[in-house]
Amino acid sequence: MMLNRRYFLILLGASTGALTLESFAFAINNPILDVVAQSATGTVQLPPLPYAYDALEPYIDATTMQFHHDKHHAAYVNNLNKALDKYPELKKPSIESLLKKINQIPSDIRTSVKNNGGGHVNHTMFWQIMKSNGGGEPTGAIANIINKTFGSFADFKKQFNEAGAGRFGSGWVWLVRNKRGNFEITTTANQDSPLMEGIAVARLIRTLLA
Ligand SMILES: [Fe+2]
Repeated sequence: MMLNRRYFLILLGASTGALTLESFAFAINNPILDVVAQSATGTVQLPPLPYAYDALEPYIDATTMQFHHDKHHAAYVNNLNKALDKYPELKKPSIESLLKKINQIPSDIRTSVKNNGGGHVNHTMFWQIMKSNGGGEPTGAIANIINKTFGSFADFKKQFNEAGAGRFGSGWVWLVRNKRGNFEITTTANQDSPLMEGIAVARLIRTLLA
């Protein structure tokens, strides 16, 4: 628990600098949905960290990365597989699609799918959108959207970071396109995902790539 708390404090603290900027700038070039697809057997796999444990230092230290990938994320995957073992038919759809219809998941595994499925998808995306020596302001369509919605990239960063600081306890900050089609900054608690509210957080990435 101490590490979990520390992790988010690090993220929030670092988000005033390079972390938020580089993660976002990198995200727009990567189709994140594809990285969390299930294996053909229907068993969810822990994706390998796409870089060394110390790749994100000095923003996130190697110990924190190793702990969150090898322990936290691995536990999410193991617990998710245990829950889905009770309902083999739920192993066929993607985890994202399970999150999108979380209220229809059988009640005896719903909380587990929510927490562990959310943890798996959120962490997989996080590993993928970060990189060493990333950064730079976004360009093209996403830059236009940010400027139009938030005024400037600096204003967007400020609001994004304020949203993170304002989320009590642990959670995530997102840039999403809401159901009205507008872009906005939202936060979710713990391992919840905007996908659980029917918001197309990943579709933003796909649309911009198209
Ligand atoms: Fe984590």
